[in-house]
Amino acid sequence: MNTKTLADISQAAATAEGRVTLWRAIVAASEAATMLEIGVWKGAFAAAMLAAPSSLSRYYMLDPWRRLPQWNKPFNRDDAAFAAVFDAAIAATDFAAARRTILRGTTAEMIDAIPDAALDIAYVDGDHTLRGIAIDLMRAYPKVRPGGILGGDDFSATVWQHRDAYEPTLVNPFAVYFAEAQEATIAILPFRQFAILKPEEENRGFRVVDLVGEGEDWSLRSRLKPRRKPVPQTT
Ligand SMILES: C[S@@+](CC[C@H](N)C(=O)[O-])C[C@H]1O[C@@H](n2cnc3c(N)ncnc32)[C@H](O)[C@@H]1O
Repeated sequence: MNTKTLADISQAAATAEGRVTLWRAIVAASEAATMLEIGVWKGAFAAAMLAAPSSLSRYYMLDPWRRLPQWNKPFNRDDAAFAAVFDAAIAATDFAAARRTILRGTTAEMIDAIPDAALDIAYVDGDHTLRGIAIDLMRAYPKVRPGGILGGDDFSATVWQHRDAYEPTLVNPFAVYFAEAQEATIAILPFRQFAILKPEEENRGFRVVDLVGEGEDWSLRSRLKPRRKPVPQTT
């Protein structure tokens, strides 16, 4: 485990006011130069990272910005809506055009445009279904350098993040199982964030550092508990 990185993340978690200030603090403390965001939408998070005074010199923005037939989640709009969302992402980050790289396509389509071990930080905020988070973590991990961070959003306490008509969100617990498979530390952070600390070869070892009191039960069963109040199936 990288003790300094964990200390930086813990300090950021203790003082952050939201996920943007949390990741800005992590970027600054780790002096990250190269970062990837999977799932960019209108570029609000990307703009916030690029606008912060930091050492970020390359920011990869990976998103298909198109309708995906297999993605049953509320953000999956029609192609016309995605064209406007793409324009918004470009406009929001134009001030940092020289430091951004646009990768327009799904993770599976575009991730190999990034060399292995090139990233200090990868931030996963795309398809949070079981299929999506499995693809994103498995494909992004080799792109992160040993000592770097693979983190993300929507580490939801329940799989029923959206209405019942939608596919469940499986970032939690899949990210924990993935960290175990990689013999890495995973920090559970406030604002439904997580960070997997990719270890150097000699520092491998699975550990969950729970900074929000999620508990020790990482079973899928505990996240499948029915909603307290059924949510209507209509849109
Ligand atoms: C919740 S939004 C991202 C929000 C953004 N990270 C922010 O903080 O402002 C999810 C995005 O994931 C993208 N997405 C969905 N499936 C994807 C996939 N397979 N690969 C990459 N991006 C995907 C969608 O196009 C959408 O823009």
